[in-house]
Amino acid sequence: MGVVETLRSVLRFRELELDPVERRLARAASVDDLRTISRRRLPRGVFDYIDGGAEAEHTLAANSDAFTRRGFRPRVLRDVGDVDPSSTLLGRRMPLPLVLSPTGFGRIADPAGELAVARSASRAGLTYTLSTLATRSIEEVAAASGDGPRWFQVYVWRDRGLVEDMIRRAAASGYEALLVTVDTAVLGKRERDVRRGFSLPPKIGLGTLIDGALHPGWTWDFVRAEPIRFANVVGRGTGDGTDAVSLADYVNNQFDPTLSWRDLDWMRSVWDGPIVVKGIQTVADARLAVEAGVEAIALSNHGGRQLDTAPAPIDLVEPVVQAVGGAAAVLCDGGVRRGSDIVKAVALGATACMAGRAYLYGLGAGGERGVDKALALLDADVRRTMALVGARTVADITRDLVD
Ligand SMILES: Cc1cc2nc3c(=O)[nH]c(=O)nc-3n(C[C@H](O)[C@H](O)[C@H](O)COP(=O)(O)O)c2cc1C
Repeated sequence: MGVVETLRSVLRFRELELDPVERRLARAASVDDLRTISRRRLPRGVFDYIDGGAEAEHTLAANSDAFTRRGFRPRVLRDVGDVDPSSTLLGRRMPLPLVLSPTGFGRIADPAGELAVARSASRAGLTYTLSTLATRSIEEVAAASGDGPRWFQVYVWRDRGLVEDMIRRAAASGYEALLVTVDTAVLGKRERDVRRGFSLPPKIGLGTLIDGALHPGWTWDFVRAEPIRFANVVGRGTGDGTDAVSLADYVNNQFDPTLSWRDLDWMRSVWDGPIVVKGIQTVADARLAVEAGVEAIALSNHGGRQLDTAPAPIDLVEPVVQAVGGAAAVLCDGGVRRGSDIVKAVALGATACMAGRAYLYGLGAGGERGVDKALALLDADVRRTMALVGARTVADITRDLVD
């Protein structure tokens, strides 16, 4: 064989992909790769708002590190020819033990924002949780998710009338569970936002202009789209919902530090369906949540965005499951970047994981197709990990499979 023939037999050129989004996404092998693409595409202030955590970000790092620290004890020769990662949560069958966490301000990552995430989750058959602080309304997201399962997240704000109104709209729009976030008595200090002078909705100052010029793809989308607004609170003392100063003040003033367990009774009086409490960080509070009659507990530190040096949720799963003994489903939220994280949480007793940034990195990297990519990566990871640890079904993911 001549040199040319030899070269021809070993050289492989990728087909030239003309669609820039496909081209970007094709090279992403992991959620971390989607994060890297997002970091390049989004203005620094926007990326840091999504990526960052509170104070020195110890908890942000610990959430993922705690997963990595736990190794597997894989079993072999167990016939994993037909892996089935489906399981049940709150009476609903889900294709993967995964729920999409609520994240506010979706439209700063992509103009379609929450609609893109809802559509993608619905295609994957996964539950999407819409945030109170969404930039698309309860009704718009319900229409986008169609038959897809959806939950609504509430902050119990000072204006209980507004909260009640949103809960009734969610019930009327087919949201199946109410997720109450309880770790925000006050807002955590996000130091990256302070350093970048970042505010929501983004204010256009000199820094933003320079940042925007360096990220023309995002800026072009942003200036063409209608202004970002809190779609669910427009008209409640928030003007048209676009004025940055009054809106940020309004939201900060709405967090209610007097919130207590008694407020869950009020919640029951206005909502018929299951209640998930998100932001439980101790065994003691998990017990109280069960006494209060909640259907599910989401162990969460808000993705490391509230109290720094709070415990990593994965480390709480086993003690909490032992303490509540099946009286409520236990969800693990924070630091999930790979399907193996989900398998570890299930092995320790969680019913499912929740994930926020994993899909936001996809949204920032490639809009709706980026979210599809993130969810597909997690799905493939779970299946592969199950095969490699010797678990054919979710019931086979037993405690002995992790350290
Ligand atoms: C950009 C961003 C916005 C968020 N907004 C909300 C919100 O509006 N309501 C809420 O309950 N949690 C919110 N969270 C927290 C998430 O629901 C979830 O707890 C967290 O993202 C889990 O950590 P992970 O990102 O490592 O998966 C937000 C998180 C991020 C990253």
